[in-house]
Parts: sequence; structure tokens; C-alpha cells
Amino acid sequence: QQTLYFSRHGESEYNVIGRIGGDAALSPRGRMYAQSLAKHIHALNLPSLQVWTSTLQRTKATSELINAPQQHLHELDEIWSGECESLSYEELQDRFPKELALRDREKLKYRYPQGESYVDVMQRLVPILMQLECETNVLTVSHQAVLRCILGYFLETLPEEIPYVHVPLHTIIKITLQGYNYNMETIKMPI
Ligand code: F6P
Repeated sequence: QQTLYFSRHGESEYNVIGRIGGDAALSPRGRMYAQSLAKHIHALNLPSLQVWTSTLQRTKATSELINAPQQHLHELDEIWSGECESLSYEELQDRFPKELALRDREKLKYRYPQGESYVDVMQRLVPILMQLECETNVLTVSHQAVLRCILGYFLETLPEEIPYVHVPLHTIIKITLQGYNYNMETIKMPI
């Protein structure tokens, strides 16, 4: 039976202060999540487990305690917010109010200045999705927007709803192929 696991990185220093993008380190709580994630995954004893992460330090640090082959893939990097990288949503509202209004109106297609849209992320994920469909026991550690797109693909979410899919921190998401459909389970780690 095909089973795939997903997780956002542990809480980062940018999550704590509400900044988007960037390449921040994990917060102390984020490091605690890395420990409980590794413990939980090891206890499952998954045959031929593989770990795929983005190239950013917060996903690598989240999975580094897991005893399995690890690949760090650019396709799994968080949505690139271009000129808005590393700003908080309040700073965005002050400095780019029109952009934020455009984004609120059409979040799926909205492209950050010099950056990406959700549609761009969905396109760069196609090769990864094709590979994941042929794998089992892969743990993908990535980011909020990217995981919305990946889960949206497997769970056949309407495209317009993908930018709003709930993907909480410190939660392991397990999807299992049953017939031709994927079922999802979530496991919230007590941190
Ligand atoms: O806030 C964390 C984060 O991963 C940012 O890096 C990213 O820009 C954002 O979430 C994506 O979520 P949304 O599209 O809802 O802003």
C-alpha cells in the first residue's frame, strides 16, 4: 500500500516574528519538533524510508535527526516572494498595499513582484509529483505554500482553494492510496 508522509519544517525564527520567506533557523520549539518528528518516524520502522526536503536550512534542520537517505530539492523551496521576501504581513500592508489587495482578490494566480505565484509553484512541482506518485515511504519536509500545492494535487482540491488549505506546523500528514483515491490522516505532535 502506497503511503507518503509530509511535514512543514519546525517553527522558524521568522514564524515567531511573522516574516515571510527568507532562510531563518529553527526556533527552540522548532528544534523540539525535529526531535519528536525523528522519534515518531523511527518508531514506524518504515522499510526503505527516504527523506526529501527543500534546500532551506529550516527543513534540513527539521529532518537532520532522521536516520534515512536525505535529498534536498530546490523544487520544494517555499514560494518565492521576490521584492516582498522577509517582510511581515504588516510591513507588506504599509509598503505594498496594492499588491496585498491584488493577492487577496486572486491568491492562486497572484505573482509577487519578481517572485512566484501559487500557479508557478504548482508548475515547478510537476516533476516531484510525478516521482512521488511512484514512491512509497517518502517523508517530504517542506513549507506551507508548497505543501498546500502537493496535498491539493493528491487530494484533488479545487485549484482556487489550494492557497487556503490548512497545513499546521508540528503536524505529520500521512496520505495512503486506497483504490484510486488518497486518504489523509494528521498526527499533531505535542510540543
Ligand atoms: O509564513 C510562513 C510561510 O511559509 C511564508 O514563508 C510564505 O510566504 C507563506 O507561509 C505562504 O502562505 P500564504 O500564501 O498564506 O502567505
